[in-house]
Amino acid sequence: MPLVLAAVLVLLSACSGGGPPHPQSIFAPKSDFSTDLNDLFTNIFAWAVVVFIIVESLLLIAIARYRARAGAPAPKPVHGHTFLEIGWTLAPALILVFIAVPTMRTIFATAGHAPEGALRVQVIGHQWWWEYRYPTLNISTANELHIPAGTAIQVEMTSADVIHSFWVPALGGKRDLIQGRTNRIAFRTDSVGEYWGQCAEFCGTSHANMRLRVIVQPDSVFERWVDLQRAAPATPAKGSPAEQGQQIFRRSACIGCHTITGISAGAVGPNLNHVGGRGTIAGALFPNTTESLRRWIQNAPAAKPGALMPPQNLSGPDLDAVLAYLQSLK
Ligand code: CUA
Repeated sequence: MPLVLAAVLVLLSACSGGGPPHPQSIFAPKSDFSTDLNDLFTNIFAWAVVVFIIVESLLLIAIARYRARAGAPAPKPVHGHTFLEIGWTLAPALILVFIAVPTMRTIFATAGHAPEGALRVQVIGHQWWWEYRYPTLNISTANELHIPAGTAIQVEMTSADVIHSFWVPALGGKRDLIQGRTNRIAFRTDSVGEYWGQCAEFCGTSHANMRLRVIVQPDSVFERWVDLQRAAPATPAKGSPAEQGQQIFRRSACIGCHTITGISAGAVGPNLNHVGGRGTIAGALFPNTTESLRRWIQNAPAAKPGALMPPQNLSGPDLDAVLAYLQSLK
């Protein structure tokens, strides 16, 4: 038992402190949703500890006091002890009530109904990236969810293919994204910052690479982001490498899957209107740098197993020009 406890302590300590800059921990709740879950967990865990201590103590006492000794008489069996029987029926029933009531309360509190005036965000799961649409703001973006602090967020989730699960441990989830139906969560956070999440339902080869980021911003910063996202994609300067890249993009296979308003209207992959302004690419897997974008376009499946974007027949100056174009789309 001490060994098991020690192992548990080691595992728990590995979850907090040190580690990556954006730990995905449910023990550091940053929204009303995740605080509800954390409180429920802490409450039930406390009950479990009390039960554990009582049961293990009784067990140890029984082992010590009633173990077989040479020459000792057989212990007297207890049978039909009314007081004991009522006791060990009532106590677990009461504990179950203490667990069930807050559990039900939390289930209803996290059922997904946002208050009036909440910001609606549609999350669409794809193998293996996240599409975000803001229906009231007319924005479509990918993998990086920007939300304002202090505003209730209504997340409406569905899938374009298999079942995924939206999970940002510090903020909310996990809830399944299922094709043909809409699941909801609602949450509100006052903590400006960046929170990482992860698909939490096995969805194929790159399930583990289906990451997401939530960027919680003060109102004014969020408004600026919204304005930027709603603006038409940048027009490259005449004669610039980016303009050359735009011409190549127009003739490439890229247009079959990606939208750049005014240039292409593909709907299979992420909208690229402002791809240059994102911090990461490929399901928040790689930093959005020239080098990782180059590797990604040349051979996406080599960078991310199973990636549905086929290797592109682009290289040399053509690829450089396309990179310049995509990076100009801030
Ligand atoms: Cu999407 Cu796992």
